[in-house]
Amino acid sequence: MTSSIHPEIEAAVKSFFLEEEKLAQVVERMTKELKMGLAKETHPRAAIKCFVTYVQDLPTGKERGKFLALDLGGSSFRVVLVTLHSESSYDIESKSFVFPSLLMSGTGIELFDYMAECLAQFCQQFGLEHEGLPLGFTFSFPCRQQGLSKGVLVAWTKGFHVEGVVGHNVVEMLQDAILRRGDLNVNVVALINDTVGTLLSTAYFNRNCRIGLILGTGTNACYVEKTVNAECFEGYQTSTRPYMVINTEWGAFGDNGVLEFVRTNYDRVVDKVTPNPGKQTFEKCIGGMYMGELVRLILMDLMAKDVIFRGEHSEKLQQRWSFDTSYISEIESDAPGEYRNCNKVLHYLGIMGNQESDRLGLRYICEAITSRSAKLCACGLVTLINKMNMNEVAIAVDGSVYRYHPKYHDVLEKYMKKLLKPGAKFELVVAEDGSGRGAALAAAATYRRGTEYKFSIIK
Ligand code: GLC
Repeated sequence: MTSSIHPEIEAAVKSFFLEEEKLAQVVERMTKELKMGLAKETHPRAAIKCFVTYVQDLPTGKERGKFLALDLGGSSFRVVLVTLHSESSYDIESKSFVFPSLLMSGTGIELFDYMAECLAQFCQQFGLEHEGLPLGFTFSFPCRQQGLSKGVLVAWTKGFHVEGVVGHNVVEMLQDAILRRGDLNVNVVALINDTVGTLLSTAYFNRNCRIGLILGTGTNACYVEKTVNAECFEGYQTSTRPYMVINTEWGAFGDNGVLEFVRTNYDRVVDKVTPNPGKQTFEKCIGGMYMGELVRLILMDLMAKDVIFRGEHSEKLQQRWSFDTSYISEIESDAPGEYRNCNKVLHYLGIMGNQESDRLGLRYICEAITSRSAKLCACGLVTLINKMNMNEVAIAVDGSVYRYHPKYHDVLEKYMKKLLKPGAKFELVVAEDGSGRGAALAAAATYRRGTEYKFSIIK
């Protein structure tokens, strides 16, 4: 007997399967919000902030030198050493450090001292303490930049709420922590968002790359805008450099209520238990930090109604955030009719008695959450491609959701094609070493500008 999806499960997730008309609406609204973020007059009240990054050139592939990078942005923390040789070749050494979750809600001094400590350990290992190397800092939170090496944190996102950092220049905080140690000679010369790192590292090889996208714990994208449109950049009218990379911070789209028509009550419940309720609305519909929790809430609801896993009780599932987003990728990796990964997840959750219809139902719930995430992300990319008015563009992508989900790419691509103007071509390219190599390239740009080489002007 082949099982089918229980009608109550279908009903519970129906609104996650967004119709095309709704997607077109999202693109329209997002386009408007993006323009508001760019324009000086409307910027202060815009939800999508479109921060200027001070990155005005993309790499040529000829950059060289030795650079350090620090990467803080999600669940892990990395220190990277990049040696750029000529002609797009490079060496990379990196070390990931366990990021104590307590630091996510501690003080700024503790956070930056910890990063400096990890940097020191890394430099000692490679004998770099006294080399005076330039460092690019990939800090993946919304920052109002006042230069390539100056940026004030506007708000924490993705579960961080560290005291004493919002409103401060994070480059200075990092440099001070390095100086406080007294045993390290490293200069923090560039601050970049992870989206920018992703764009730069891919542009190093791919000359068509104009968008950097992150689909991981959070979501965000940057893109190449004409400097004359980047009104929040002082000198935007007179700048001789025609382009500016914009960090859209699109995760905040919908914070003013324009996305209510795609949100569900489950989203509202998730939002309430985050440290930033009412913020990052778009991100909370898309990002890996939230997808699993949405599945968990739907399951809890359906279990309470005895629609799925009848008679089962899972202590684990009662706990917030216990349904990791990686389970969605695992469950959707099973071939149709097979439940190997699904059974593993259920075993882990302590749900032993289940029928095929339950497993089918669980998979369907996962697909619903994935589908909405990928479709909304497609809307975001289409908004940016339309804004740039390009017929052919490469998009650099990084992040765990995109990398590890078996079907995310396909859904994303399918809906981008549906929503884009006919004839517009795009390519999604997985970025390698985005935060490390990207930060190194940003550091290279400041460090050597006007001397050995320059970045190429974007054509
Ligand atoms: C959050 C941050 C943003 C970052 C994104 C992906 O949205 O605010 O800066 O790029 O997560 O890591």
